[in-house]
Amino acid sequence: LQNGLARTPPMGWNSWNFFACNINETVIKETADALISTGLANLGYTYVNIDDCWSKVTRDAKGQMVPDPKTFKSGIKALADYVHSKGLKLGIYSDAGKFTCQVRPGSIFHEKEDAMSFASWDVDYLKYDNCFNLGIEPKKRYPPMRDALNATGRSIFYSICEWGVDDPALWAGKVGNSWRTTEDINDTWVSMTNIADLNDKWAAYAGPGGWNDPDMLEVGNGGMTYKEYRSHFSIWALIKAPLLIGCDIRNMTAETKEILSNQEVIAVNQDPLGVQGRKVHSNGTDGCQQVWAGPLSGNSLSVVLWNRCMQAATITAEWNVIGLEAGTSVSVRDLWQHEVVLNNAVASFSAQLDAHDCRMYVFTPQAALMGNVM
Ligand code: DGJ
Repeated sequence: LQNGLARTPPMGWNSWNFFACNINETVIKETADALISTGLANLGYTYVNIDDCWSKVTRDAKGQMVPDPKTFKSGIKALADYVHSKGLKLGIYSDAGKFTCQVRPGSIFHEKEDAMSFASWDVDYLKYDNCFNLGIEPKKRYPPMRDALNATGRSIFYSICEWGVDDPALWAGKVGNSWRTTEDINDTWVSMTNIADLNDKWAAYAGPGGWNDPDMLEVGNGGMTYKEYRSHFSIWALIKAPLLIGCDIRNMTAETKEILSNQEVIAVNQDPLGVQGRKVHSNGTDGCQQVWAGPLSGNSLSVVLWNRCMQAATITAEWNVIGLEAGTSVSVRDLWQHEVVLNNAVASFSAQLDAHDCRMYVFTPQAALMGNVM
């Protein structure tokens, strides 16, 4: 959606993956504080997004949505003021149906009032879910909220959470700033790798203003190993996914923080060219030895070698496969080791990887390094 937002994929935090319905205003405020104190906010994680369960089960006498008085007793406006005072942004959640998935009021046929409420509370982001949808096509249910948000005059990021049921990449580019391409992620290797594959086929539809959304990060929630989480984060960055942290950042391990804070990996995600990287090669059992790659601004490329096999493997990126001309000499920078590991790779580049590990690189052609003097 060309509303001036989402020139690069959104970055921030969302309550659902870790807290589910166990949220309240203290958790949200402490998370905002933690984004600042951990340095994550400075790296670009600025949206603090409340998911399902913030609202009271019924609307008020005037038909307005009301924050749950037990858990959000100061109201959403006060929370937005708090979050804004820290230089962050506040996100909220509703549903393009009669109820949210956790059976709070949905916004179908109330789009205008609800968009007005969100804008009057100074909300900056709306995630719009797909439960209790009355069997009406997503294509019909999602545009009214876009129009209602637009009519408020406030800039509000519009996140379509349609679970990929209706091939949203084909129509949502004019409707939202991101659209979910799959069912919900869970904190397992199987879920994460499946979603990466399902999301891949929509790559051509992503770009500044509108992004494929393979769901939020599980890094730090405990169900995967360090190497698996590093793979998850590397691939989400390369495929220009929203980087929405889904763990309890008030209590992160050093490893979790290291993964989420990798500035070089974040820079790939936030590269201004905004082209989604793709799986460009796979071989081995079930194609478990993989190369993912995509172009960056300045003629560089980002490349992930990803070993999804159950044993160690050597994986090779061939120039023709990643889109480099034969004979091009490139410098290879490893984004997890934070150093150039080879100055003049030609024709191909290989690395040996442990099971479920990845390497992430920026390949810069020598001509680009010398400022295109040739
Ligand atoms: C389904 C969505 O896909 C999830 O991300 C989350 O928002 C839940 N609904 C909340 O009920």
